[in-house]
Formats: sequence, C-alpha cells, structure tokens
Amino acid sequence: MEVGKDSSVEFPISLLTRRRFLGWLGWGSLAVAIGGIAQSVPYYLKPQLTYEPTTTFTVGRPSDYQIGEMRPLEAKRVFIFRTPLGFQALSMTCTHLGCSYKPFGPPSQEYSVVHAFCPCHGSVFARDGRVLGGPAPRPLPFYKLELTPDGRLQVDTAKVVPSTQYLTADGKEIEGPQPDGSDIKFS
Ligand code: FES
Repeated sequence: MEVGKDSSVEFPISLLTRRRFLGWLGWGSLAVAIGGIAQSVPYYLKPQLTYEPTTTFTVGRPSDYQIGEMRPLEAKRVFIFRTPLGFQALSMTCTHLGCSYKPFGPPSQEYSVVHAFCPCHGSVFARDGRVLGGPAPRPLPFYKLELTPDGRLQVDTAKVVPSTQYLTADGKEIEGPQPDGSDIKFS
C-alpha cells in the first residue's frame, strides 16, 4: 500500500528529527539556566555598597575670606563667617520647612539684634542660630569646620558643633563668645 510504504520510510526520520530537536532544546535550556546562575554568583559574593550623599565639602582657603565677611553658599546651603576669632559654618536651611533664609541684616526697629528672615513663613533667626520669631521649632545648627591637609576649609554637615566654637585660620578649634552679629561687616 502506498500510504503504509510512505509512512514506514518517513516515520523514523521525523521521529529522529523530533528527538534531536527536543534534545537540543533540553541542552539549550540547561545552558541558559547555568549561565544565569553563573552571572548572578558575583552579585551575591560582592559586598553590596550603598552610596549616600557626602556630608563634607570644601569652601576655599582661609585667605579667600575677609575678616567680618558673611558668605552665603547657596548651593551648599551654608553661611561661612570669618570673624576676628576664626571661622564658623551655619546652616542656611530654615528649621521650619527647609527653605533657605535670607542673609543676616543689621538690627532694625522690629529686632534689636542682627537677624535673618526666612521668606517662606516668616521665621527670624539670630546670628547665634536662636529662633527670634515665627514658626521655626529649633535653632539653626553650626557645622564642624576643619582644615584639610592641603589647607582648605572643609565643612561637615553631619557634625554639629556649639555656636561658641571657631576654627582659626591655621586650623585650631577654639572656644569663643556667642556670636551676636557684631562680627559681621555690613557694607
Ligand atoms: S520654611 Fe522658613 S519659616 Fe517656614
């Protein structure tokens, strides 16, 4: 019979082809699985690092500042003061909702001391960081300053220091009076 004859010839060939195909498929899947596992091994062996924003940055050399200068560094959100005693770094971030407050100004009719306004909701701060008015719940923090080995001033916003701490131009931390704003030369 024609049909039987044909099928007796074609059946083994198609079976062989199917077996081969399934074999390749099996080996291929195994290879893909092993490749995936091998690729993920270094991920588990390597320590997983988390990159957090750095809290230290440099703000120039002591000689870049005049005595009596109050320098707002908007990008860093910090004021650098150079007083006759030394340097101080004061946060520029209002402790209410985080706006940048304005530079300190001389005493006025309303406030008899050197003070700074926050334009967002009207908090007022004294030069030593105290809250004089408005909704700010906490004083402004002063940040640690130090001199790098190559002579640059470095601020660390992760370290808060007392408002009576100063860094001398040659890198010594000293205690001084509460800053009252008389150390700023207003032009
Ligand atoms: S953010 Fe400064 S007063 Fe609200």
